[in-house]
Amino acid sequence: MKVLVATDKPFAKAAVDGIRKIVEEAGFELRLLEKYTDVNDFHAAVADVDALIVRSDKVTKEVIGAAKNLKIVVRAGAGYDNLDLAACTARGIVAMNTPGQNSNAVAELAAGMMVYMARNTFHSGTGSELKGKKLGIHAYGNVGRLVARIAKGFGMDVYAFDPFVNAADITNDGVKPLATVEELYSTCHYVSLHIPATEKTKQSIGYNLLSKMPKGACLVNTARKEVIHEDELLRAMEERADLKYVSDIAPDNHAVLQEKFGTRYFSTPKKMGAETAEANINAGLAAARQIVRFLQSGDKTFQVN
Ligand code: 3PG
Repeated sequence: MKVLVATDKPFAKAAVDGIRKIVEEAGFELRLLEKYTDVNDFHAAVADVDALIVRSDKVTKEVIGAAKNLKIVVRAGAGYDNLDLAACTARGIVAMNTPGQNSNAVAELAAGMMVYMARNTFHSGTGSELKGKKLGIHAYGNVGRLVARIAKGFGMDVYAFDPFVNAADITNDGVKPLATVEELYSTCHYVSLHIPATEKTKQSIGYNLLSKMPKGACLVNTARKEVIHEDELLRAMEERADLKYVSDIAPDNHAVLQEKFGTRYFSTPKKMGAETAEANINAGLAAARQIVRFLQSGDKTFQVN
């Protein structure tokens, strides 16, 4: 059996070494395609492999079409909006993610981004403190829970909106559940986004919610750029000189936002939420183990299609 790791944004070496060990100890062969610039290289590399590990790499129907022997693809990470699930399913290919494995790295970045924005992106001038401010967690999953925990350490008052999580489970964490998304935005000085990018959520965060936020509010996006309605974000930030936006991955309108809003806006040059050695190792090794378990015994835990 051949296992391909195809990563435009490579894993740390320790993660690749760990993946290799797991794959080879199972008697399989590991292949590596890193930092590819031409998608044709991806198509060629996938041609005869049985299993595939990717990060945010786009597994399109063309990739699936080129992968004649593919049985399983694992997205080493949480969001699987980069996988064409319909194409996988049509070919009987199992698609998985590795939930929770890189969550702490993303949560720490979200917390760091709040500090960065509260301190005027480290430019001179009077900043503000997080202590006593209200933080809204939009989607209380693996990352959201960790952001809540860190924020309580800062002395923030933490709220959450998540229609898929029991209010009691949120309350048990010392977090206040809110019944509507509108309440979350109208209550909180900071809102940290942790929703996946789906047909329902794409462009769902726009003027209606942003204009409800309290004075000096900041939206923190370590989720996906696609969930923001960027034209409406621009409108809200133009109308309100106090609103801030920080994003892990450049929005389509990065240049405009940077030019118009200065220290009220920041975006990382390349998505870096999961860019820690620990997250690479956790997610990469989990992906390798899931592949070995599936190929050896048919274990489909964490299948998403
Ligand atoms: C995820 O969904 O797990 C994160 O966005 C990490 O993505 P990455 O593996 O491309 O850094």
